[in-house]
Amino acid sequence: MKKVLVIGCGGVAGVAIQKCAQNADVFNEICIASRTVSKCDALKKKLEGKTKAKITTAQVDADKVDQLVALINEAKPDIVLNLALPYQDLTIMEACLKTKVDYVDTANYECEDTNDPEWRAIYEKRCKEKGFTAYFDYSWQWAYRERFEKAGITALLGTGFDPGVTSVFTAYAQKHYFDEIHTIDILDCNGGDHGYPFATNFNPEINLREVSANGSYWENGHWVETKPMEIHRTYNFEGVGEKDMYLLHHEEIESLAQNIPHVKRIRFFMTFGQSYLTHMKCLENVGMLGTEPVEFEGHEIVPIQFLRKLLPDPASLGPRTVGKTNIGCIYTGIKDGKERTLYIYNVCDHQECYKEVGSQAISYTTGVPAMIGTMMVLQGLWKRPGVFTVEEFDPDPYMDALNKWGLPWQVDEHPVLVP
Ligand SMILES: NC(=O)c1ccc[n+]([C@@H]2O[C@H](COP(=O)([O-])OP(=O)(O)OC[C@H]3O[C@@H](n4cnc5c(N)ncnc54)[C@H](OP(=O)(O)O)[C@@H]3O)[C@@H](O)[C@H]2O)c1
Repeated sequence: MKKVLVIGCGGVAGVAIQKCAQNADVFNEICIASRTVSKCDALKKKLEGKTKAKITTAQVDADKVDQLVALINEAKPDIVLNLALPYQDLTIMEACLKTKVDYVDTANYECEDTNDPEWRAIYEKRCKEKGFTAYFDYSWQWAYRERFEKAGITALLGTGFDPGVTSVFTAYAQKHYFDEIHTIDILDCNGGDHGYPFATNFNPEINLREVSANGSYWENGHWVETKPMEIHRTYNFEGVGEKDMYLLHHEEIESLAQNIPHVKRIRFFMTFGQSYLTHMKCLENVGMLGTEPVEFEGHEIVPIQFLRKLLPDPASLGPRTVGKTNIGCIYTGIKDGKERTLYIYNVCDHQECYKEVGSQAISYTTGVPAMIGTMMVLQGLWKRPGVFTVEEFDPDPYMDALNKWGLPWQVDEHPVLVP
């Protein structure tokens, strides 16, 4: 009997848990634990009679290591799937170490209070040493490598779509198509329309922090940083059409730069409509993306958290969103002495996702790979003591599972390249 403990019960977790429940031969038991237990209970109710998996729920504050340790000791899971926020990565990893249970997540650690002087000193040193200013990076979680290795447990980091599937695509391209990959362009296109003037497709706070930050890319062994939205391209995406896309910093660039031996350049582009960008700039200009508390009528309010309360819950966008996503990677490099190009991508339809699990494609394209990565570790296919990102394992079983569990991928050997 194998049991997964899922922490968090938002948009992504909702999909991942339903996928685990569909895959009950692997996930015999599922414990759903989150800050707001009523959301866990509601999902349990929705799944009643639809799965062989035994489902239980629990309340936990994942910022507190002692609460997590008590929960893990009581629930006795074989693996913990962290689908709370990146702020909770380190506390959950710490609890997994103390209880010797495998750990999986979809996003690397980010500090919630970026004004914490202790964190800031480390951050500023890293900015100088590495040359990028994003608030998130892998160093915090890679620092756990030795302790996870000694404890004989696995931490699998970043098994969403990007990071996640895009890095598995890269391992697959390296294994089957290239002797040397020289350039990687990761293209994340959301052609969906939810009908609101402004909403984010996943947690607004995490999303807006990411998008309003400086961009950066990896070239010839170092980072090149850009102003937010400075580099703009258009691309014609299958299933979506022509879209504007902008270069962003993204976490998988950091791990791919270490793990793909001959790579010379890695870039990440995401599509945005003009309405999204105009709203974001306006919110930024008036201070609504601020992460520092401000005093308002005797209360302390963090502007971006207040904004989150006002914006539509990403989990509620499902019924309204129409259109498709197209996410994938374009590679150039060499095979048998000849130059070659390759594009591996997935097209996902928002309404198809909604029909299957009641959510839009952004949660779906993250939740499905979260289930698959967890399955890889649980089945022993990707189990190795230490802390790893997904491109460090054999991509083939994961690629097969994508086809089977709702994210079929396609290969184009003659793609249009991004200038
Ligand atoms: N790799 C990828 O492709 C990708 C793409 C999208 C998202 N992500 C990641 O996926 C994760 C989930 O995103 P989402 O859109 O599902 O976010 P979400 O809808 O905001 O859900 C977050 C969940 O975590 C819970 N939570 C927050 N703080 C907690 C705490 N201290 N203790 C316990 N539970 C806590 C929330 O509880 P409440 O209900 O009480 O708020 C909520 O259930 C994030 O880390 C995000 O960065 C990855």
